[in-house]
Amino acid sequence: MALLFLSTRERAPVWHRILTEAGEEMVDGEAAVTDPAAITEIACWTPPADLGRYPNLRAVISVGAGVDHLPPLPPGVVLSRTLSAGIDAMVRDWVMMAVLMLHRDLPAYLQQARQGLWKARPVREAASRRIGILGMGRIGRLVADSLTTLGFDVAGQSRSGAGGPGSTLFRASETEAFLARSDLLVCLLPLTEETRGILGARTFAMLPRGAGLIHAGRGGHLRMTDLREALDGGQLSGAVLDVTDPEPLPADHWLWSDPRVIVTPHVAAQTNPVEGAQHALAVIRALRAGHAVPGRVDRERGY
Ligand code: GLV
Repeated sequence: MALLFLSTRERAPVWHRILTEAGEEMVDGEAAVTDPAAITEIACWTPPADLGRYPNLRAVISVGAGVDHLPPLPPGVVLSRTLSAGIDAMVRDWVMMAVLMLHRDLPAYLQQARQGLWKARPVREAASRRIGILGMGRIGRLVADSLTTLGFDVAGQSRSGAGGPGSTLFRASETEAFLARSDLLVCLLPLTEETRGILGARTFAMLPRGAGLIHAGRGGHLRMTDLREALDGGQLSGAVLDVTDPEPLPADHWLWSDPRVIVTPHVAAQTNPVEGAQHALAVIRALRAGHAVPGRVDRERGY
């Protein structure tokens, strides 16, 4: 029984040390597989082209928080996404940065700076800025708590998540009311058939005029043409995006040079190798003991 590791070179020695110290076997890379029947788990971002090569595979572990990039798995193979306090905190930090950038007009000040223009804009207090978080899973709740601590007026919408102390929770049926009170809309949704394209003209039209968009979900959530139209028409005043479609964003894409938009190259979180390996270890042990697998994904639901 061994875990096949298919992630980045710099993570490999850390994973190897942690798994070996725990008495588990790790095979580093498909080229090192001598007996495919011995592979019981695969940890990867990009899975092997032929999963059927591994007859005793029990689980595929995504080394990130998302799983939308993974193909259907053979029947009986469990899919687990990495649960890590580090990922949660990194995304939280990125969202805080983006919220504060839009809350304090940074895109406009960057533009003024390029012109050497010293000009104050009205400053709003956090309590007067209503933030709406789409997706109140573990990361959404952490973001909500931190924004609440800073004094923002926070609400979240979720199909299955929960609210937090100090933030209001809107159900899936309350989209209109939720969006109508979102001066800054934060997207932390998983990408599923239901959420693909959700950040488009219909959603933007329900936001207060001049709202801002903060997106750390997936590029597939966002309709780029609708974003441009909403910015040009003034329905949206700015956006901070960590994810785009396509990725990487081509060098000549309009998003790069639009002064109302700030783009970061899908870096909100990067899995810490220690936490990644510890998660994999927890998956292996749960499978062996017949316990619930941490981070298990419901493929029907998509997260
Ligand atoms: C990054 O987007 C991840 O899913 O970890």
